[in-house]
Amino acid sequence: MLLGALTYVLGENPAFLYRENRMRMPDDGPPKKKTKMSEAGSSSHGRNGNYDTGVSYHRLKEERRKLPIFPAKGKLINQIQRLDTAIVIGETGSGKTTQIPQYLYESGIHRNAIVAVTQPRRVAAITVAQRVSDERGQQLGQLVGYCVRFEDVTSENTKIKYMTDGMLLREAILDPLMKRYSVVILDEAHERTIHTDVLFGVVKAAQRHRKMKGIRPLKIIVMSATMDVDHFSNYFNKAPVLYLEGRQYPVQVYYAPEPQSDYVFASVVTLFQIHKEEPPNQDVLIFLTGQEEIESAVKTIRDVARDASGQMPPLMVCPLYAALPSQQQLKVFKATPSGYRKVIVATNIAETSVTIQGIRFVIDAGMVKAKVFNPLSGLDLLKVVRISKAQGLQRTGRAGREAPGACYRLYTEQEFEELKANTVPEIQRTNLSSVVLQLMALGISDVVNFDFMDKPSTESIVSAVSQLEDLGAVTNDKPPRLTPLGRKMAAFPLDPRLSKTILLAKDFHCLEEILSIVSVLSVDSVLFTPQSKREEALAARAKFVSSEGDHVMFLNIYRAYKGVKGNKDWCHENFINGRNMKTATEVRQQLRQICERQEIPIQSCGNDTSAIRRCLAAGFFMNAAEIQKESSGYVTLSTKKPVHIHPSSVLFQCKPSYVIYNELVKTTKCYMSLLGTSPSSLFIFGSDFIFNVVIAVEHYSILWKANIALGESLLLFCLLYFLQQLYPENDV
Ligand code: CDP
Ligand code: MG
Repeated sequence: MLLGALTYVLGENPAFLYRENRMRMPDDGPPKKKTKMSEAGSSSHGRNGNYDTGVSYHRLKEERRKLPIFPAKGKLINQIQRLDTAIVIGETGSGKTTQIPQYLYESGIHRNAIVAVTQPRRVAAITVAQRVSDERGQQLGQLVGYCVRFEDVTSENTKIKYMTDGMLLREAILDPLMKRYSVVILDEAHERTIHTDVLFGVVKAAQRHRKMKGIRPLKIIVMSATMDVDHFSNYFNKAPVLYLEGRQYPVQVYYAPEPQSDYVFASVVTLFQIHKEEPPNQDVLIFLTGQEEIESAVKTIRDVARDASGQMPPLMVCPLYAALPSQQQLKVFKATPSGYRKVIVATNIAETSVTIQGIRFVIDAGMVKAKVFNPLSGLDLLKVVRISKAQGLQRTGRAGREAPGACYRLYTEQEFEELKANTVPEIQRTNLSSVVLQLMALGISDVVNFDFMDKPSTESIVSAVSQLEDLGAVTNDKPPRLTPLGRKMAAFPLDPRLSKTILLAKDFHCLEEILSIVSVLSVDSVLFTPQSKREEALAARAKFVSSEGDHVMFLNIYRAYKGVKGNKDWCHENFINGRNMKTATEVRQQLRQICERQEIPIQSCGNDTSAIRRCLAAGFFMNAAEIQKESSGYVTLSTKKPVHIHPSSVLFQCKPSYVIYNELVKTTKCYMSLLGTSPSSLFIFGSDFIFNVVIAVEHYSILWKANIALGESLLLFCLLYFLQQLYPENDV
């Protein structure tokens, strides 16, 4: 295959050049000389040492001493000792995440209590905990541990605890003063995930209350690679900002001369231009937006490289996205064999939270997949949107960690200038129902007046409360109160609709099955479909496919997996992600325990899938859609929005009259993914009369919201009920 050339224009923006000395600890004297390439790049354990289980303690100790943060240790500890709250800023890779918690521990600032370090990403929490544990020469889960949703690897000896921000928030529900911790480090604060944003307010309140009550003080450290420091400092009562000297080499920035309509293709073209012109062993990092795009780019790159073999040095192509099996994720950290060039095609996961060595070129598509919430429609959408300038800068920075590098932006300089300065905090763009439920479980009922750093819009809070009201989790008082059902729902670390589905399952006598389905939905994809073996994968999984939807297929997969006791070969043959499947079984175990604690009877409906479908429809009644006779597309029942079945769904070909979905994804069209069928009659009129009245009322409320006249819908109900009585065996 021949790829046309793409010419680039050199960026004028001097901000990307010579950034190396912008970040220094205050009073550090004149900036230190730039670290030489040989010192910075070729650490003794090579690029794959990160995950080497036999890492030697002494070698890691040496490496720790070489980190840019090391010379600042004394000063940093001194400052942190004096401060209640500190903000620490330092380039990615300078050693903030791995070193600062250890420094606090070594200096005794932790006062024998636990230092909590939050991470927005599960992968980061786990890998960093492993690394720090190795650095201490200890077994993971002893001094250093981690705690992520559904997985707690800590013990009573744990003093440094890496955890996802969501986990700490959940813990705060049981202990709002966070008494187990002496220091809370909110890391990667610039990512502004919804949980970190809520934690800002929660830890700030905990610090104040502990002071008032004379309980051991709580130290707060906010860490990041880049951020709007004034905004953060103002929020934390003018907390001082400590700058760490970075190690950043100049990066030459190139822009596309004109806007690119197909950035995936442009990224491949650019890669081969670099590959033709530059010597091997200088690796390339490409930023795209998600699994499908990445897999398609990886396939094209491999095809082109195969066609051109002999004419160019060989390539080692590694995809990197959250849903990739972790063994394959680790491939990106492997050393590039001599004479090769490694190409990492990643989502924004490679922006700040994982450090990959050896990168000299960055190709930035300028796009990211983000959750976008429309408070009017009440829908959360995963949408490909433009990155912010701050993200663009971070991506560029990845090319200059070890030597001068280059960044190719697949957009024009003008397009760059038009980008938003910072990423809009997630709290201002996603469905807040889960967070509002958690805040209410924390005892904060007046959510509108909560101390948010950046307040979400009142409409989105009102919309979240109204969704919780529809689910029966809160009352319609002013301010709303948590109902007993809402309190039960808050005990599950899940989206409120999923928690509600679990709680409803006892009425349908199918809790066993619902637990299996919800567990599979709660982990990264259990399906493994490499682009190059797509047909083979689909054929192997055909036996699990159900015309009743993706949920029933997941149940079939779960049952089959249990049947073969999680056999690895079976997973391989059936293109099932074994690791994610194993996680799903652990998740299930924990959800089951929560049900047991709440004394919910756990029953199985056997093969009665209609009970499962009714239950799912009852929990997800807000996410129901009806087929359009004219267009073969669907419209959502609640908001009349046109939607389509995602091609990855097993229902893509069947097109049932009514469906419920878990997610909406917007690319060229608005797609529903993870679907189940829900013939309207089935979920309005089932065997349990009282329950069906509730569902009917809920369904009625959707129709009402969809502006169907009262008389019309009542008539519809009566008609359906009548038909159901006449033909009880049919889906009316
Ligand atoms: O947090 P920050 O980006 O400042 O740096 P860090 O995560 O503490 O990483 C410091 C150094 O530790 C990196 O440059 C990596 O070389 C190394 N590291 C690693 O080898 N494996 C990890 N899982 C994490 C860090
Ligand atoms: Mg970090």
